[in-house]
Amino acid sequence: MADGNGNTPLLQVKDLKTYLFTRYAVVRAVDGITFDLKEGENLGLVGESGCGKTMTGLSLLRLLPQPAGRIVGGQIIFDGQDILTLDDDEFRKLRGTQMSMILQDPMTSLNPVFTIGDQVGEPLLLHQGLKGNGLKDKVVELLRLVRIPVAEVRVRDFPHQMSGGMRQRIVGAIAMSCNPKLLIADEPTTALDVTTQIYFLKLMRELQQQFGMAMIWITHDFGIVNRMCDRIAVMYAGRFMEIGPLVEMFKRPVHPYTIALLNSVPRVDRKVDQLYSIEGQPPDLRQEMVGCPFAPRCSRVKPICREQYPDEVVLDSSHKAYCWDVK
Ligand SMILES: Nc1ncnc2c1ncn2[C@@H]1O[C@H](COP(=O)(O)OP(=O)(O)OP(=O)(O)O)[C@@H](O)[C@H]1O
Ligand SMILES: [Mg+2]
Repeated sequence: MADGNGNTPLLQVKDLKTYLFTRYAVVRAVDGITFDLKEGENLGLVGESGCGKTMTGLSLLRLLPQPAGRIVGGQIIFDGQDILTLDDDEFRKLRGTQMSMILQDPMTSLNPVFTIGDQVGEPLLLHQGLKGNGLKDKVVELLRLVRIPVAEVRVRDFPHQMSGGMRQRIVGAIAMSCNPKLLIADEPTTALDVTTQIYFLKLMRELQQQFGMAMIWITHDFGIVNRMCDRIAVMYAGRFMEIGPLVEMFKRPVHPYTIALLNSVPRVDRKVDQLYSIEGQPPDLRQEMVGCPFAPRCSRVKPICREQYPDEVVLDSSHKAYCWDVK
């Protein structure tokens, strides 16, 4: 699918389905999502807790929890390659050099028995062949870039000797070390103080300008979305409810879930008298769903919403919603 300029997107995701096969149930964590991403583009992925955002990111990097997680349908085309058809070795090369992810919980991506220096250096050693002093210098440079004080000394520390915010930035340094074409950042700034957060976001921008890196921002923080993203995808119960350009989505959201979600967060672009919480809970993804998953909580629900999943409504080429009641 080429855009208007004839450019093929960096990433094309088509009807992706990721299920988790647990002992007692099948969790439909991602249930048929379709989107694409251009080089250098920033997409925000938002939605309530448990709606499948992290599983979407992990699917794109084939890092699903094992043995439960499996991609059961769809296609992921990255840089012209159908990555679901690559074998593990081929894919590992791609993951280290072209696509990478900052995980939601930094402790799970750092190994407690290796030093910070070893872990930041590993992808550089493996994928760029750096060794000796060259490798050491690059590791210190990366740690300085993410504001680790006295980096030349701290390279010898172990993860438990760093603060939570430092660990988060170290994970960021590892993810960025090989200048990937796609970086997925899952709540990358939750453990950072406000000053460091602003610094981190600025750093990301600079890297993007320098290397044309595209990013998917998985976050509950609409401040980040507003500051960093070109487009937003709103996810609910493993599906997209709406996807579109940032300004359009803020100004003219069409899906009742997007509207409710935006009304539940403080906004700098609009004065609101009151913040609303969305009544009810997201559905249990272990149950098979009929109709629109948001129907039980939706203020505009119609009989058909409970019977059939809505078709895609194309508002313009880049703004789409999945709802029976788009006006
Ligand atoms: N290892 C696992 N085994 C079984 N189910 C899981 C596992 N990890 C996540 N899930 C389920 O998959 C669904 C999607 O989870 P996911 O982590 O993608 O949510 P999320 O949108 O990232 O939420 P949050 O905003 O809280 O991070 C949830 O219903 C969750 O309970
Ligand atoms: Mg998550």
